[in-house]
Amino acid sequence: MRNHGTFDLAQVRADTPASARLIHFNNAGAALMPNAVSDAIFSHLDLERRIGGYEAETVAQPAINDFYDAFAELLNCDRGEIAYVENATRAWDMAFYALPLRAGDRILTHDSEYASNYLALLQLAKRLDVGIDVVPSDAHGQIDVEALRRAISSESRVIALTHAPTHNGLINPAAEVGRIAREHGLIYVLDACQSAGQLPLDVKKIGCHVLSGTGRKFLRGPRGTGFLYVEQSLLQMLDPPFIDMHAARALPSASFELRSDARRFETWESYVAGRLGLRAAVRYLLSLGVDTVSTRIVSLAASLRDALRAEQRVTVHDRGAAKSGIVTFTLADEQAPATAARLRAAGANVSVTVPDAAPLDPHLRRLQGAVRASVHYYNTTEEIARFVKLVVSG
Ligand SMILES: Cc1ncc(COP(=O)(O)O)c(C=O)c1O
Repeated sequence: MRNHGTFDLAQVRADTPASARLIHFNNAGAALMPNAVSDAIFSHLDLERRIGGYEAETVAQPAINDFYDAFAELLNCDRGEIAYVENATRAWDMAFYALPLRAGDRILTHDSEYASNYLALLQLAKRLDVGIDVVPSDAHGQIDVEALRRAISSESRVIALTHAPTHNGLINPAAEVGRIAREHGLIYVLDACQSAGQLPLDVKKIGCHVLSGTGRKFLRGPRGTGFLYVEQSLLQMLDPPFIDMHAARALPSASFELRSDARRFETWESYVAGRLGLRAAVRYLLSLGVDTVSTRIVSLAASLRDALRAEQRVTVHDRGAAKSGIVTFTLADEQAPATAARLRAAGANVSVTVPDAAPLDPHLRRLQGAVRASVHYYNTTEEIARFVKLVVSG
């Protein structure tokens, strides 16, 4: 399907039947799955129904193994550095709560950090007496890399950053932060939940030690699926918060041995059909080309912002020198939930972003909610034009 920086849009939309009926601009919530993904899920569930769950797993073993190869290709890492986890939050948690932190250590973060990650920071701060330093934003609203350098002290151990925040179109300069983390010997934990599937992610170029993501958003996988990358050099230093007989082995000496690969963060039981669906989603994305897909998403989002800005009643709130497929806006005379409900009734799906999603962000707090329209490569400029008309028609 790949063809020198383009793909067959008609084919991609045919692979996504709901795109004929809906303007689905809720890809940062949950994107529409392509048929390849839903087929992988349904056919595995059918196999489980016909021959039994364990037996179906044995039949599907080659595809299950390919989950790790597909993610290794997507992220430019080794298959042993990938774990399947049921969502992005637990994936991030499994690595974060495993970090070798002690009282007095400090964690650096930014005000765009996702709420669940920040809650984990707060919990560890309370539990272990570690400190949190929130690095200020630069003029674009993204993490200020010079301020980050200045904030690093001899107690700093970890940088926790969200690549593409949930509530704003900005993209944090992940690779610049990676260079600083490596220069100072800090562990770098990157939340790629909103960037996986819409931006190229090369863990070697970014320089992160940990990267987490979910299946259902820009990767176009099923709900209830996620993944975790942990760099081999860090793996042996991480003690997972939970282990089971898949993650570790009990030894006769009343001790245990952890798996040597990232699957020490997995559990024995998992959603096999979902894992196969996510694997199919990554393979589908790789067949289109991540760079091609990313260029289209960023360009469609820029067109949407321009079209919304041209409307007097609309304010666009995205910050960042580089922007993602997430577009946030409000109408002067309508609350965001009312706009979202009106759009949905007219066949256009969006989300509403709320201050609780990123509690450290003062802009979001002032805003008290915004409409979040998030485009994907299967969306079209014609949909953008229709969408903007719907936005201002209420
Ligand atoms: C930036 C970011 N991180 C993490 C998450 C959590 O993902 P999950 O719901 O898969 O745990 C989200 C979900 O919206 C997110 O936007």
